Amino acid sequence: MLSARDVSRLLDVDHWHHEALIAYSPPPRAPIGIARYIRLDDFDAAEVAIEVADGWQHQGVGIALLVALTERARSAGIRRFHMSMLRDNVAARALARKLSPPNEPPTLSPPPAMSWS
Ligand SMILES: CC(C)(COP(=O)(O)OP(=O)(O)OC[C@H]1O[C@@H](n2cnc3c(N)ncnc32)[C@H](O)[C@@H]1OP(=O)(O)O)[C@@H](O)C(=O)NCCC(=O)NCCS
Repeated sequence: MLSARDVSRLLDVDHWHHEALIAYSPPPRAPIGIARYIRLDDFDAAEVAIEVADGWQHQGVGIALLVALTERARSAGIRRFHMSMLRDNVAARALARKLSPPNEPPTLSPPPAMSWS
């Protein structure tokens, strides 16, 4: 369960240090995915998190959300991204690879996290 502090932090979207995007299904337009970044202590770095509803996974929702999110992040001066995940999270690792420049594959850093720029 989320603490009151966690909830307040998640709702504190200022579209600069913290952005959140929601994907909706076609009508009846239910929310099916959410992605957010929160800037870290380094101005040019952010933590990214994403979740797509089970029935909508592997249909391109995750990559669409992260492309839109990282475009916004870059316009806010963010150049480096970190995403924490379980070590065996194949889908999240594939997403990080897709978002990294081809000549700069994402790096794996503890506690299992992928980083890319
Ligand atoms: C990780 C997650 C967001 C991916 O979302 P998604 O909408 O399924 O991803 P996409 O359909 O956009 O897939 C993008 C690429 O990821 C890879 N991928 C996605 N799901 C995969 C799976 N189950 N196995 C292997 N690769 C997978 C594929 O390479 C895919 O590209 P392709 O369709 O061209 O082959 C989703 O699985 C999820 O919500 N997981 C639970 C939460 C989570 O782990 N979040 C990440 C840590 S914050």
